[in-house]
Amino acid sequence: MCGIVGCIGNKNASDIIFNGLKKLEYRGYDSSGIAVVSDGKLDIRRSVGKLCNLAQLLKEKPLHSDLGIGHTRWATHGKPSEENAHPHTDPTKSIVIVHNGIIENYIELKTKLQKEGNVFKSETDTEVVAHLIKKYYKNNLFEAVKMALKDVRGSYALGVICKDEPDKIVCARYDAPLIVGVGKGENFIASDIPALLSYTRNMIFLENGDIAEITRESIKIENAAGKQIERDVKNIQWDAVTAEKDGYKHFMLKEIFEQPRTIEDTLKGRVFPDEARVYVEEVKIETKFIKDLSKICIIGCGTSYNAGLVAKFLFEKFLRVTVEVDIASEFRYREPVIDNKTLVIVISQSGETADTLAALRLANKKGCQTLAVCNVMESSISREAQHVIYTRCGPEIGVASTKAFTGQLTALYILALDWAAKKESLSKDVLKEYIKELWSIPVKVGDFLKTSDNVKEVAKNFSAKRDFLYLGRHVNFPIALEGALKLKEISYIHAEGYAAGEMKHGPIALIDESMPIVAIAPLGDVYEKILSNISEAKARGAIVIAVASENDKEIKQKSDAQIYVPATSELFSPFITVIPLQLLAYFVAEVLGKDVDQPRNLAKSVTVE
Ligand code: F6R
Repeated sequence: MCGIVGCIGNKNASDIIFNGLKKLEYRGYDSSGIAVVSDGKLDIRRSVGKLCNLAQLLKEKPLHSDLGIGHTRWATHGKPSEENAHPHTDPTKSIVIVHNGIIENYIELKTKLQKEGNVFKSETDTEVVAHLIKKYYKNNLFEAVKMALKDVRGSYALGVICKDEPDKIVCARYDAPLIVGVGKGENFIASDIPALLSYTRNMIFLENGDIAEITRESIKIENAAGKQIERDVKNIQWDAVTAEKDGYKHFMLKEIFEQPRTIEDTLKGRVFPDEARVYVEEVKIETKFIKDLSKICIIGCGTSYNAGLVAKFLFEKFLRVTVEVDIASEFRYREPVIDNKTLVIVISQSGETADTLAALRLANKKGCQTLAVCNVMESSISREAQHVIYTRCGPEIGVASTKAFTGQLTALYILALDWAAKKESLSKDVLKEYIKELWSIPVKVGDFLKTSDNVKEVAKNFSAKRDFLYLGRHVNFPIALEGALKLKEISYIHAEGYAAGEMKHGPIALIDESMPIVAIAPLGDVYEKILSNISEAKARGAIVIAVASENDKEIKQKSDAQIYVPATSELFSPFITVIPLQLLAYFVAEVLGKDVDQPRNLAKSVTVE
């Protein structure tokens, strides 16, 4: 997502920060900026677009100071623009901050600060924190940051400097990574290791709730309990390329492991388990329209289409409304029956897929209400849709989509719950239960990822096979399609996803020991049905790999290999069952030595028809 760099020493801070930001460039961003304290005042440069724009600005108007902070932004609150680019200041321009993460209660805080006379210049959640720090500032930046953070709910990695204390950076972390780089007569902060590797290999990894004060010679850290503590200094031996991938071998693996965080980020500030409430600030579809809907059409390509197939189950169940799911390239040429009572939801990670964009344009032309589920702010699809809900996954670099898929699911579950609440089509108790279930997902995904070695073993045992059949039912039928798609894309092995009940209507003829079957069989209403399908396949000599719930006692006797996932209710199981399939595809491709991040013939964003 966004990147943070800061330094205090005896060299030109702006050069160090710019070089650090450059090292984070590979992850994508939409704007950038640097702030320094010089001659008792703050000096800030910000620009939209590529870092070369900031470089040009710095050439025209250089910054001179040995203390500064900088940021590359991947927009989440507010479009990419100079006003929304970091660093952000308070109205008197004495405090300046950079921030990664999401301030969940920023609207509440902003409204309160506005009532107290504060005027805001940006649409960001970050600016609120700058105003808050100023509000509490009484000649002690460290204490002011500490007090401000007591008011804040959400995730943050913060870097703060103040014109009246030109000898320190204060930084803080909660649920967003932040590192302190330890130098000689100079110290640094950064969100990611690659930004600092040219300056130091000695790093302190701050923990949740830590607040630190960094000077040229000292690093003072207080933990969440307000106790001063020492944290270990780690010596990082990674080379630059390994560091970019956070130590993972491929971006795809890194992105698979990011999913607990990206799901959580997409939920934050939108789903409130304590109040059993859902609130999606940016989607302003009227309740009356939701109540009067005649139909929802969901459109996407590839993985995004598969997310739409899962959503059909939710919208139908929660809203009792007809839902059609279409492949964008089919929708646009089939004269769909849609009108001003239809809600068209387009799903796209990149926001630039040509067919999805054309389908959106058609829906707009036909007078439908349109909504995009998108990961990239200011992309064509997010600009042309009437409403947008952003997944907060950060840039997806691996060509095979992983974290974007679970981000899309998260956004779609949120919408389904929001509209069910508006339509009153789910009871308050059921809504509360579902909200609780949704919030349990990031932890369950994280728990499963700790067992990834088991998937690696399965992958090793089956990587020589040339055909795979993936079977699933109900919400896990789309997951069978997604699992097969992942395997095809990166290992070039032929794989098909099938509705398990359809097996005996054709594909059963293919079954023998040379084609493993991946059966997605979590406990739930259709569990017995898929067990029967597994038995039918086994009776014909099939080798079955089962993705099953951890408390399933029966599956071991019915299958040849098992991948156990944390138990969850069937309706929410796609979040959990898709992860082993992403890993299976990854490890098979890895065993076969394929180019995982850039598979042949594929492009990350398909901008042509
Ligand atoms: C599969 C994959 C593709 C994309 C598809 C749509 O791993 O990445 O199938 O899902 O090209 O792309 P977006 O979501 O950007 O519209």
